[in-house]
Amino acid sequence: MLDDKDRIFTNLYGDESWDLAASRRRGVWEGTKDLLAMDQDAIVDQIKESGLRGRGGAGFPTGLKWSFMPKESDGRPSYLVVNADESEPGTCKDREIMRNDPHRLLEGCLVAGYSMRASAAFIYIRGEFVAEARVLQAAIEEAYDAGLIGRNACGSGYDFDIILHRGAGAYICGEETALIESLEGKKGQPRLKPPFPAAVGAYGCPSTVNNVESIAVAPEILKRGATWFAGLGRPNNTGTKLFCVSGHVNTPCNVEEEMGIPLKELIEKHCGGVRGGWDNLLAVIPGGSSVPLIPKAICDEVLMDFDSLKEVQSGLGTAAVIVMDKSTDVVEAIANLSHFYMHESCGQCTPCREGTGWMYRVMTRMVKGKASIAEIDKLHDVTKQVEGHTICALGDAAAWPIQGLIRHFRPVLEQRILDYRKQAA
Ligand SMILES: Cc1cc2nc3c(=O)[nH]c(=O)nc-3n(C[C@H](O)[C@H](O)[C@H](O)COP(=O)(O)O)c2cc1C
Ligand code: SF4
Repeated sequence: MLDDKDRIFTNLYGDESWDLAASRRRGVWEGTKDLLAMDQDAIVDQIKESGLRGRGGAGFPTGLKWSFMPKESDGRPSYLVVNADESEPGTCKDREIMRNDPHRLLEGCLVAGYSMRASAAFIYIRGEFVAEARVLQAAIEEAYDAGLIGRNACGSGYDFDIILHRGAGAYICGEETALIESLEGKKGQPRLKPPFPAAVGAYGCPSTVNNVESIAVAPEILKRGATWFAGLGRPNNTGTKLFCVSGHVNTPCNVEEEMGIPLKELIEKHCGGVRGGWDNLLAVIPGGSSVPLIPKAICDEVLMDFDSLKEVQSGLGTAAVIVMDKSTDVVEAIANLSHFYMHESCGQCTPCREGTGWMYRVMTRMVKGKASIAEIDKLHDVTKQVEGHTICALGDAAAWPIQGLIRHFRPVLEQRILDYRKQAA
């Protein structure tokens, strides 16, 4: 279990004020000027050494991503873009950072932005986060007034602006290139890559898109040292992590824990256990709606980190843990997700546009058992035709939950089909 002294998000629950004075008491904006005196590449190296991997879902190494930004300008400015869209079902961590500890994010923007020679950060916040946007905007104004950002940020000689942009609430706008399109005032549709954002990003300029949590932890890593962060968790899966646990647990919560905490410990120590006890557990979706579920037998032992969950054919994703006890109709639960992906497909690629609708329609029949046994394989086949054949990862996200269902609950699907037939006969 994470030691209190190793916690980064010390106001996650809003016990104290979010404002500048309270944030300073928590150590935010302390020594920031010294960080801005560091060599930019030394900051990137520290982040690389810390082992920080992106907290937005894909787990891409953060320092490596920053290193893709140009060191010399070709005349264009560079930008940091913060992904505060947080639309992955089950995920509710970034909103707590913005609502209760916004200065931590702003300090992160400045330091990360400086390391990649950016002149500004755009924070793209999900439109529904009205209260969070108000707090964040007020915090930005406080930071400007105190000279922490803007011209000569923190008295460092470095100029850096932070602009808050409210989205209109589409899941796809969380995908980094759709986010950039939306930021530019266009329809939120993913771009073909390459070019990657580091070459052509927001407003045609070199940009890096990072999740709120990835950026908010950066100053603390630099202040406490990369080895401190790398010493938490396991190699390649380092640091602390915000977990969002929802569903059939006694006390759903957000909690900062050490990466690699056993799933069972996470649920029992922080969430009051599974409703009805551990043996009443059916399955868990461990990383937000996009990742395949894992049945109880795997949940018994699995560790909550990128590599451990990959080994069991699932993923850490956004670390949004959705717990389902034995009262759950698991087929209906996955069909519900299929509806979500069909609804959120932007429609650019045929496999996703047509496939998500096709998968949803078959899933609604599977819920009732109104299908043939052979259709289970056909459904699986279709998921494979969607997966990896689209512009963005929404296609994969639509395919994986169904693949997980078939992998672990095929007998349930079959039984339902047999029951339906018996009933109809
Ligand atoms: C359909 C879709 C939705 C996404 N939604 C989010 C989101 O809400 N927030 C987020 O940080 N990343 C989201 N991502 C991941 C981003 O594309 C990107 O990988 C991430 O912001 C990078 O930040 P990181 O490297 O700090 O993790 C989404 C990806 C896809 C394909
Ligand atoms: S995979 Fe789906 S959401 Fe992504 S670009 Fe293609 S159609 Fe749009």
